Amino acid sequence: MKVALIVAIDKERGIGKNNDLMWHLPADMQFFKATTSGHIVVTGRKNYDSIPERFRPLPNRENAVLTRNSHYEAPGALLFSSLDACLEHYRNETERTVFIIGGGQIYKEALAANVVDEMFITHVHGTFGADTFFPEIDANAWNSEIVSTHAKDEKHAYGFEILKYVRKS
Ligand SMILES: NC(=O)c1ccc[n+]([C@@H]2O[C@H](COP(=O)([O-])OP(=O)(O)OC[C@H]3O[C@@H](n4cnc5c(N)ncnc54)[C@H](OP(=O)(O)O)[C@@H]3O)[C@@H](O)[C@H]2O)c1
Repeated sequence: MKVALIVAIDKERGIGKNNDLMWHLPADMQFFKATTSGHIVVTGRKNYDSIPERFRPLPNRENAVLTRNSHYEAPGALLFSSLDACLEHYRNETERTVFIIGGGQIYKEALAANVVDEMFITHVHGTFGADTFFPEIDANAWNSEIVSTHAKDEKHAYGFEILKYVRKS
């Protein structure tokens, strides 16, 4: 099983506000879609709730939602009551990658548990007054490379770059 994480952060490591994203960056959304399609996405219940109903479960991906609420319903998604139980379920996966797609609680738990093999982090050139943050990462623990850079343009109010981080063995 390979575990990856995908996130977009601002200059303060902010990832969201009022249970929503803080920017509209179509090229980054496209990267998210292309990178996770065909794989498994693991999301916290709040992040899942923030996805408009008509867009969930995210198509062409197996959606796994973490919740401690045994009455929660998410048609078309698998529910797990802990990150451990979820990863145990996918332990023997060889074809698909397990993508941790947030939000803040899930990123924090996955990184603290040391289960993440690689990360795709979009660094957005701005600050947005977030109320939810990505954890600080230990720069020495990861090798990084630039995947792509995007200048701001008529469709993107902010520039950003996408980096891939691979855990040092
Ligand atoms: N910028 C990005 O790339 C990005 C990506 C994703 C999300 N976001 C943003 O992040 C924000 C949401 O993040 P958040 O931290 O508030 O919430 P979250 O991590 O999406 O979800 C938290 C919920 O997940 C469940 N949960 C957490 N840990 C669990 C565990 N170990 N076992 C079982 N269930 C568990 C609980 O659900 P129950 O309460 O149902 O028990 C908890 O309330 C939004 O603003 C969203 O837009 C940003």
